[in-house]
Amino acid sequence: MPVVSLVVIGAGNRGTNYGRWALANPSRAGVVAVAEPRQVRRDRFAAAHGIGTADAVEDWRQLAGRKRFADAVLVCTQDRMHAEPVEAFAALGYHVLVEKPMGPDEQTCRRIVAAAERAGVMLAVAHVMRYAPYTAAVKQIVDSGRLGEIMSVEHLEPVGFWHQAHSYVRGNWRRADLATSMLIAKSCHDLDWLQYILGLPPQRVSSFGRLSHFNRDHQPEGAADRCVDCAVEANCAYSAIRLYGGLLKGGEHGWPLDVVLDELTPAALEEAMRDGPYGRCVYACDNDVVDHQVVAMEFPGGATATFTMTGFNEGGWRRTRIFGDRGELTGDGETIRIYDFMTRQTQVVGLEDMGTMSAAGGHSGGDAGLMDAFTKAVALGDPEPIRSGPRESLASHLAVFAAERARLNGTVETV
Ligand SMILES: NC(=O)c1ccc[n+]([C@@H]2O[C@H](COP(=O)([O-])OP(=O)(O)OC[C@H]3O[C@@H](n4cnc5c(N)ncnc54)[C@H](O)[C@@H]3O)[C@@H](O)[C@H]2O)c1
Repeated sequence: MPVVSLVVIGAGNRGTNYGRWALANPSRAGVVAVAEPRQVRRDRFAAAHGIGTADAVEDWRQLAGRKRFADAVLVCTQDRMHAEPVEAFAALGYHVLVEKPMGPDEQTCRRIVAAAERAGVMLAVAHVMRYAPYTAAVKQIVDSGRLGEIMSVEHLEPVGFWHQAHSYVRGNWRRADLATSMLIAKSCHDLDWLQYILGLPPQRVSSFGRLSHFNRDHQPEGAADRCVDCAVEANCAYSAIRLYGGLLKGGEHGWPLDVVLDELTPAALEEAMRDGPYGRCVYACDNDVVDHQVVAMEFPGGATATFTMTGFNEGGWRRTRIFGDRGELTGDGETIRIYDFMTRQTQVVGLEDMGTMSAAGGHSGGDAGLMDAFTKAVALGDPEPIRSGPRESLASHLAVFAAERARLNGTVETV
């Protein structure tokens, strides 16, 4: 297979992550240019990939102003900054990998799909969960008919108390008007995953949820608006000092600490805690996205599913139970249990039993699986390896938008 040349737009958490895959797989892909306005990130990324200054630029428009000079582009900017670069690079003939969510609303998602189809280029959406070996195993079991006809599904996304505080109270996805709703930001993965496993999107949805905890009403007596000034900080589960200070001390310097700090030093941490957004009291932020939400779904044919997203737990991989008319599957992201109604026996399936690739790395192997599939598709000029193409990704985004409308309006929505 030829080596695929890549342009990375946005050398933040995701862009860096995909870049790392290319560095680890030089026979498959190489990054030849990057656009990133933050100099520390740009310089670090360019140095890691051996990119010269002419090809390490501040803004994606500088690269889109040239004739096509690479095979594909990875659009890794924030949620509301995907459509324009996708349109520009697709029109130049680049194949596109765009981060999820495609955009904050239906119109933007349709723009992205139309841009790829108009240009005749391949588009992969970063629904990384589709590419995790665990997902392949669950799908293989469901498709084999072992569980019989699927009647219902129970799916849980345990966001984790500190992740909720980091990303959705203090961080980039705290406000729907700056990013997107919680459901589209975090759980578009989950509705997409259910659609992938069941083979089709839901036809009707309803939803409930709200921001219950992370607001002024729950700020403890005596608390200050910053953890560094707070008299009750030592007693607070959401203390930023404990979270980020603990990571720095423990040498855990990747995500989420690298979102908070450019320089991983005690002095930089002190400054971030005093002045930056991540040092704020979780009860005194400008957040408005929900901290728990449920979605009820009905699929064509009558199967039903429930989905729960909640920030109030330890975190970890999603947990799912799939109920068929011949058996029940219980999965926790690592191990799958299948109970057979005929034999009344439970079989425990580990991922190694499924002969799948390694589940190590980001999103339980999903990040690597996506890059493997996308670069293979580009190298071969065949979209077949892409499991999250434009149409299926649009369908799952539409289900999420419908669910969010249902929550806001108290309705049952037809997708
Ligand atoms: N697939 C997943 O599981 C997953 C996980 C986390 C985040 N995401 C999504 O990935 C996207 C990026 O998230 P992130 O955490 O990497 O964010 P980030 O903020 O770390 O990275 C985005 C980068 O884009 C840069 N940028 C801004 N304007 C730019 C411009 N004009 N040209 C080029 N670069 C520009 C920013 O400076 C920033 O470094 C978001 O849409 C997010 O929702 C997906």
